[in-house]
Amino acid sequence: MNHPNRPFVGGNWKMNLRLASAVELAEDVHAALSNQPLAADLDAVVFPPYPYLQAVGRALGHGPPQLGAQDLADHEDGAFTGQVSAGMLDDLDARWVIVGHSERRHGLEEPESVLHRKLVRALTSDLKAVFCVGETLAERESGMAEEVLARQVRSGFSGVDQGLLASVVLAYEPVWAIGTGRTAHPDDASQAHRWIRSTLADLYDAELAAATRVVYGGSVTAANAAELFSRPEIDGGLVGGASLKAETFAAICRAAAARLA
Ligand code: 13P
Repeated sequence: MNHPNRPFVGGNWKMNLRLASAVELAEDVHAALSNQPLAADLDAVVFPPYPYLQAVGRALGHGPPQLGAQDLADHEDGAFTGQVSAGMLDDLDARWVIVGHSERRHGLEEPESVLHRKLVRALTSDLKAVFCVGETLAERESGMAEEVLARQVRSGFSGVDQGLLASVVLAYEPVWAIGTGRTAHPDDASQAHRWIRSTLADLYDAELAAATRVVYGGSVTAANAAELFSRPEIDGGLVGGASLKAETFAAICRAAAARLA
C-alpha cells in the first residue's frame, strides 16, 4: 500500500452517560481537538446515544469532532416503533452512522440481510457508514476467522454500487476484544484487515479495496493506539471505553493523525 488513507477515529459512546455528562464530554472533546492542528488530518467522529444527539450536536457546533449515530432503521419513516430513520438523523446533523456493531449483530442477533439493508439505506441517504465486522472467539480458535469476515463483508456489500464506497469505513472488531481489555495483536489485526480488503478486491477491485478505509476496534487505548496505527493496513480505530474521556480520545486521534506525518 502506498499513500496512507485519511485516518478515521470513532468514539462509540454506546449506552453510557447522561445528558449533562454527554454535553460536557462533547465540549471537552471539541476543545481538545480544536487545540491541536488535528482536524484537517483525520475524520474524528463521536457517536452519542440517540436521545443526546441534538444536544451533543449543538455543543460541537461545526466540530471537530463530527457527529454520528450508533444505528439506523433499514426502513424509511413509518410504523416502526422505537426505530430511528436516516431522515431523522439528517435532521439532527448526524453525518455518520454505525451499522452492524457486534452488540447488535451478535448481541441482538440482527441478521446479515437487515445489516445489508441498513448499509444501503445509510449510503443512499447521504450518510457515511461505519460497517462493523468481526469473528467470535470460538470462530477464531477454530480457524474460521477469514471465512467469517469474508461472509460478513460479502453479505454487507453485495450489490452496493462502487461509487458509494468512498462513504464507507469498515471496522474490524473481533468480538473477543470488545470491552475485554484483550486487544488483538497488531499482527493479527493487520492480517484480518488484509482478509477484509481481499474480499473487497473480489467484490470490486484491488485499487478500490486499498483506498477503502479499514479501522480496528476492540480495547483500543491511548497506550496501544500508536502501535496498532503504525501498521499500514490499519487506518485508525473505533473506540468504546477509551472514548469516554476527552484527553484519551484526543490522544488516540493524535496517534491516528501521525500516520500521515
Ligand atoms: P472498547 O473500546 O470498549 O473495547 O469497545 C470497542 C467497540 O465496540 C467500539 O465500537
